[in-house]
Amino acid sequence: MIARNSARLVWDSKNNEIEGKFASFQEVERVYVNPLYQNNPLFSEQIDISLSRTDSSENAFFQGDNLAVIECLLQQGYRGKIDLIYIDPPYLSNHEYISRIAIGNGENKQALDRSAFDDVWENSLDSYLDGLYPRLLLMKDLLSPNGSIFVHLDWHVSHYVKLLLDEIFSSENFINEIVWCYGGGSGSKKHFHRKHDLIFWYARSDNYIFNPQYRPYSAGTIQRGLTKVKGDRYSLHEKGALMQDWWADINKILSPTAQENLKYPTQKPEALLRRIIATASQPGSLVADFYAGSGTTIEVCEDMERNWIACDSSDLALQISLKRLIQKRTPGFKIFKLNGNEQHKINRPKLFCKLRNEGDHEKESNLIISIDSYQPSPENAGKLKPNANFCLFIDFWEIDLNYNGFIFNSDLQVLRKSGFDQEIAVDINLMVPKVPIYRVAVKVWDVFAENTMQVLELKTE
Ligand SMILES: C[S@@+](CC[C@H](N)C(=O)[O-])C[C@H]1O[C@@H](n2cnc3c(N)ncnc32)[C@H](O)[C@@H]1O
Repeated sequence: MIARNSARLVWDSKNNEIEGKFASFQEVERVYVNPLYQNNPLFSEQIDISLSRTDSSENAFFQGDNLAVIECLLQQGYRGKIDLIYIDPPYLSNHEYISRIAIGNGENKQALDRSAFDDVWENSLDSYLDGLYPRLLLMKDLLSPNGSIFVHLDWHVSHYVKLLLDEIFSSENFINEIVWCYGGGSGSKKHFHRKHDLIFWYARSDNYIFNPQYRPYSAGTIQRGLTKVKGDRYSLHEKGALMQDWWADINKILSPTAQENLKYPTQKPEALLRRIIATASQPGSLVADFYAGSGTTIEVCEDMERNWIACDSSDLALQISLKRLIQKRTPGFKIFKLNGNEQHKINRPKLFCKLRNEGDHEKESNLIISIDSYQPSPENAGKLKPNANFCLFIDFWEIDLNYNGFIFNSDLQVLRKSGFDQEIAVDINLMVPKVPIYRVAVKVWDVFAENTMQVLELKTE
């Protein structure tokens, strides 16, 4: 009898013809990570900085719709180049996700809600599947012959998406359904508490990378030893017992004060990504996350010496990921934006900066860069207490010491020493190599996930 695997998921608008978007991306920023942690007042310590930008990392964050990003990557030679794709897409939860932070302290303290992303679909399941299906089809072409994809979902749509994955990657390449169990949070009085997610693992071929993972033996097994149960042929493995397909040893990020908690709703724990990346990639592998959120996958890639590509359409996701990488002191990376997708808002934030030369030395000049004022866009300004100090609602700022007019090269990043209750430093004092004309650009990222830039010029006497 011939085995037939023709069963398929069908819905009214299903379409496996992918319309080529011919989108293109523009590099908007290159980050040379060099963080300065300062609270106000004036940051007057002199920093000696050379203008060398030596890092050549190809790691990249793409801001925009991942369909266009994947199409671009395929056109630009990434077909078959990615060893591991992890995705944690929206789950059809019908929820608008908000990130809540508190800024200021004492009388000036206030809570702010920032929009993270929406998981609301006009025609519910059909629209959701219309979105995910072409993206999964294209992701397959990016995978290397040793590659794998891990698709993270929950009870809302996992059963539908499993069928799509069988169709696209073939049920023969289905490796595992991983059940990630966690505790905490609230539950319902009408049904069992929903406390697990599902992660589907599919490989591109039989030659997929698999590095077995281990868990500690139970106390009983250690005490008895395996031999009593299984006979003399078995002994305890030095690394522990082989990992099963249900993981109950990693919890969700629950505490609002946990160091890992970056206040991005749906943020996944690093330990979860560490296990997935360790399992299905090698040092030097290229790993991609096309629904990057707060950048968990990227941070773990940095720790584990994997190269990475990340994508997210949300402004807040880009900003949180960027800050996370700066805080991690990563070797550097690039930021790309979809061409033609810039929203030309009339009411942009307003930034007023100054550049002064405090004195020339033989080979160096002493520059002072200050932010004199910053006004968020009017739609966000209305959310702030009247007369709120602008040093409270700047998230962080970056400095390009030699702006070329095209790409913002972030040479320095000014962050607060502690939480949002403190004011960030807005004046900095630098020793820089002497040049006939300084063209410095300042980019400010505010707590509402908007950013704006100003270019300053100064001639040396
Ligand atoms: C569940 S969250 C990912 C959370 C992430 N795993 C983390 O640890 O922070 C899903 C993300 O997908 C992004 N997203 C949704 N649709 C997208 C699309 N078409 N292109 C790019 N990003 C998208 C959202 O902005 C959101 O940040």
